[in-house]
Amino acid sequence: MSPSQTDRVIVFDTTLRDGEQSPGAALNVNEKVELAHALEEMGVDVLEAGFPISSPGDFRAVQRISREIRDCTICGLTRANPKDIDSAAEALQDAARPRIHTGLGVSDVHIRYKLRTSREEALERGIAAVKRAKNLVEDVQYFTEDAGRAEPEYLYRVLEAVIAAGATVVNIPDTTGYATPDEFGALIRGVVENVPNIHRATISVHCHNDLGMATANTLAGIRNGARQVEVTVNGIGERAGNCSLEEVVMALRTRRDLLKLETGIDSRRIYPMSRLVSQLTGIPVQPNKAIVGSNAFAHSSGIHQDGVLKERTTYEIINPRDVGVPDSEIVLSARSGRAGLRYRLVDLGYTLDEKQFDKVYHRFLEVADKKKTVDTRDLEAIVGDEVQTFFTESYQLEQVQITCGDHSIPTATVRIRGPDGEVHCDADHGTGPVDAVYRAINRVIGEPNELIEFSIQAVTEGINAVGRVTIRIQAEDPVEENGVERRVFSGRSSDTDIVVASARAYMFALNRLIATRREAGE
Ligand code: KIV
Ligand code: ZN
Repeated sequence: MSPSQTDRVIVFDTTLRDGEQSPGAALNVNEKVELAHALEEMGVDVLEAGFPISSPGDFRAVQRISREIRDCTICGLTRANPKDIDSAAEALQDAARPRIHTGLGVSDVHIRYKLRTSREEALERGIAAVKRAKNLVEDVQYFTEDAGRAEPEYLYRVLEAVIAAGATVVNIPDTTGYATPDEFGALIRGVVENVPNIHRATISVHCHNDLGMATANTLAGIRNGARQVEVTVNGIGERAGNCSLEEVVMALRTRRDLLKLETGIDSRRIYPMSRLVSQLTGIPVQPNKAIVGSNAFAHSSGIHQDGVLKERTTYEIINPRDVGVPDSEIVLSARSGRAGLRYRLVDLGYTLDEKQFDKVYHRFLEVADKKKTVDTRDLEAIVGDEVQTFFTESYQLEQVQITCGDHSIPTATVRIRGPDGEVHCDADHGTGPVDAVYRAINRVIGEPNELIEFSIQAVTEGINAVGRVTIRIQAEDPVEENGVERRVFSGRSSDTDIVVASARAYMFALNRLIATRREAGE
């Protein structure tokens, strides 16, 4: 049986590689390793852990993931050149099942303008890359970048040649999200019918979402013979993102009657995974996002509520429990104690070590004190703040005090404990309370940066709601050969006091910036 005839779809997750290319999503090594463990537990088959040559941090992340993850194939991305391929092989050395993912553009616009070469030369480079990779690992995946805009006849030639050179998986990306489902399905069908040795390789599809058709295109690819899907959690990725893991997995599961295919994903891990990715990347999930948005299972009109109360399936095609959406009715109060909180956290799928639990408990008491009851969404926000701290915080905000009003100059005083344990107090004024707090923090930490995004969202309803602040800052990062790159760092925090949440979010982003610089220097 050729790979395109099996009924099992391989899930290739690229959250840590293409997903991390989302502006501002920069993850540090510990965060990537943490996510890799969660992806392994969720049942991902192939984990694209990074692009080893791109930075020392990416190299280390691929190396650590290769050492720690045993149940997934670990994949490293390369361009089609010897240096990249050798670096990936080195980073993947300890993986139980290593895979090198190499490739080159196949559309004329990529060959002419990006690669500045000819079709023939590009083909030769591709073959040489596969041969080199094949000497280093058994499992080689070849990507044909921008296949969605390429001439099919040339694509067929490239695929035949790289399979003959040893590629085990051929990736057909719609890099620019240009194709429509009919077109993309026909492209995959064309590959199945016109590449003579295609039965020796698995066809993979990698669709971007520029026109909002990534999931539809991926499903069209599968229906026409692809058996590997390249996806990211929450659909994060370059520009409008990649095809989202949860959408494809749940479409296959919900419409098994039609598609007759399955994956190895434990769907109950989808929602916790979505929250974890959102918390670590600082990229919020839009409320109406399919499967994992906060409104995905909310029924607001009276007619719908009435229907769901009579029979859930009147308006729900997925049982929220099947994707791990927690029961939001359960509330805790300060009297619930440590045991009650721990029980609820385990129920929600969080496994925290003692130190993290202590921090969460402390924050829980603060919120319970102000709000009296703490529901699931409050808890998720609190845990989210704490799991962001997968780096040693250099600076800790101990106290923040603000005065503001329509007849006073907004002024903030902060007390911050530095990396050496020394406590610093400083104050400043600004155009508003948040500006004043950020200026006061800057006086202590003195790390130049620019605030490029600031948003506040109410986590729950009502006047005493917890507010979640998400911010992004941009800072200059020295790179090799005396260049300077501008990098974005995000921070997030939740509190009933939005100025306090703003201050904490800013501290997270600054600590992240400092940790990344420290990591780069190591
Ligand atoms: O979108 C794309 O073409 C890619 C390749 C590197 C696989 O991400
Ligand atoms: Zn991509």
